[in-house]
Amino acid sequence: MSVLVIGGTGTTGSRLAALLPDARVGTRKPARPGQVRFDWDAPETFESALDGVHGVYLIPPVGVVDPVPVVESFLSRARFVRRVVLLSSSAVPESATGMGALPALVRSAPEWAVLRPSWFMQNFTGDHQVAAGVRDGEIVTATGAGRVGFVDAADIAAVAARALTDPVPHNTEHLVTGPEALSYADAAAIVSELTGRVVRHRSVSTAEMADRIALSVPREFAALLAGLDEDIRGGAEDRVTTTVEDVTGRPARSFREFYAEHLGRTSTG
Ligand SMILES: NC(=O)c1ccc[n+]([C@@H]2O[C@H](COP(=O)([O-])OP(=O)(O)OC[C@H]3O[C@@H](n4cnc5c(N)ncnc54)[C@H](OP(=O)(O)O)[C@@H]3O)[C@@H](O)[C@H]2O)c1
Repeated sequence: MSVLVIGGTGTTGSRLAALLPDARVGTRKPARPGQVRFDWDAPETFESALDGVHGVYLIPPVGVVDPVPVVESFLSRARFVRRVVLLSSSAVPESATGMGALPALVRSAPEWAVLRPSWFMQNFTGDHQVAAGVRDGEIVTATGAGRVGFVDAADIAAVAARALTDPVPHNTEHLVTGPEALSYADAAAIVSELTGRVVRHRSVSTAEMADRIALSVPREFAALLAGLDEDIRGGAEDRVTTTVEDVTGRPARSFREFYAEHLGRTSTG
């Protein structure tokens, strides 16, 4: 099956593309063989990116409060695509509008799966705000002592690969978490232990968090993200599932293993 991986250069998409050697990697700036131009802001790129494709890994446009119109427009051009796997989020409940309305659109594909991962372990590395906190020695969130089933993007990609290629379509939602729920303070303690450098967690109010996030993204989106921290504070993400093992046959990676590998070490715990 030929698969278009939207966001194929990103956190989950690049890992998925590595698992599917024939994948067509959607990117705004194709530079290598196997890459095709795909831009949510340029609908004229949709048809050529979809040409001859049987499956799509669909990452909705990033940072858009209501992605429904553009995703609808994309799917209307993808009617011959058999299977669509949507990357949603455990933090986004089904709703009539916005991100929460996308699962309903995807369920109209002949074969489908909706991935609802918890928060990515990769947020602690790279250019995410949490990673910046790790570098500064202080992670700031509005999550309080709320716990999160942090999940490795490699595990999300492994579930996506099975959802896209298994002969029997999954036709279901997968709530994807890591093996344990950790507070940001718990995660900071693991990072401190592994790096030998003190990293703390400081919880602020939702309003203060929204102000901080709004320094780098539009205010409406910042408010939405700060609200997700508040949900964590209320316990919404304090859960783990066995989805990774059920779907892939191997257990999900722990945060300790993930971060040790990030540091180029083998985990001892
Ligand atoms: N971070 C978390 O903790 C978390 C948790 C649950 C769910 N999620 C969901 O994960 C999704 C993001 O997935 P990800 O982390 O795998 O992706 P990502 O790393 O944030 O980015 C994916 C790729 O999207 C591409 N892109 C950016 N703007 C684009 C546009 N206008 N048109 C087409 N492509 C564009 C970029 O590739 P090019 O530059 O090559 O074009 C980028 O590499 C979001 O929907 C988020 O809600 C995240």
